[in-house]
Amino acid sequence: MADIIVAKTAGFCFGVNRAVKIAFDVADRNQGGCTLGPIIHNKEMVAALNDRGVVSVDSLDDIQGREPVIIRSHGVKRSVYDKLNEMGVEYIDATCPFVAKIHSIVYDMSRQGYTVLIAGDENHPEVQGILSNCVSEYYIFKDVEDLKKIFDLIPEENKDRICIVAQTTFNEKFWKNCIVFLKKLCTNAKVFDTICNATSKRQAEAHTLSAKCDCMIVVGDRSSSNTNKLYEICKKNCEHTYLIETAAELDRAMIAEARTIGVTAGASTPDRIIKEVLDTMSENTTSSVNETENFEEMLE
Ligand code: F3S
Repeated sequence: MADIIVAKTAGFCFGVNRAVKIAFDVADRNQGGCTLGPIIHNKEMVAALNDRGVVSVDSLDDIQGREPVIIRSHGVKRSVYDKLNEMGVEYIDATCPFVAKIHSIVYDMSRQGYTVLIAGDENHPEVQGILSNCVSEYYIFKDVEDLKKIFDLIPEENKDRICIVAQTTFNEKFWKNCIVFLKKLCTNAKVFDTICNATSKRQAEAHTLSAKCDCMIVVGDRSSSNTNKLYEICKKNCEHTYLIETAAELDRAMIAEARTIGVTAGASTPDRIIKEVLDTMSENTTSSVNETENFEEMLE
């Protein structure tokens, strides 16, 4: 008999839940509407909204009367707000408040003349939004090696006014290494730990859970960066880690030999999909499903 342990932190985070709710409220109240890019990295959710008249558009040029425009949880560049205002288009800002906080930090600090260091993926829309709020010099880096290189590029005279922030989904361990490095060279650097608690908790739980399971199932969209990070974390601890998007991808062979199966899911995975995966697992194994109990204790 296999034990199935579901991570308590699996599934929607606060910001995604809020954005999805805003989008469905728009669908209920309006004849239509659009999101600038898919509301979350989940094809089924995007299709469900589409069926209710709220479509996903790639750019401002595609709005064509599909108002209101919904801004996604990871935010957009400042220039997008400017353009929307210029166009006189109604919009609803579903940027996660934790992301909006980073925008205001980097805006304020850069206005005070600080050089801004941003830990994150420069191609990610969240980072694009963050950097667009910097009004002075900024640098983006992805790990401590990268930071070391970047640090050498900062003019000496600017090294006493440095602030550092992170993309909300940045790897916590990498972040700690970067701060240790920076603080050695720049004792007065202003550090803003902007990694989202939801992400760090989910990652920590995935780490702990995968260490005690002989099979890990990570549920989420392959285009979701936080889902991919969960997969990487679990794979390091548990060889038999699989990333699946829906229950249909769950192959019996994945779980057949396992005695303890862990399940976690990315921040954009709806509860319904997690439930379907668990139901399919139960059909394919003799199993009992549990949530991680005393998760806080597991982390200690
Ligand atoms: Fe917001 Fe954190 Fe989710 S920043 S979108 S609550 S991962």
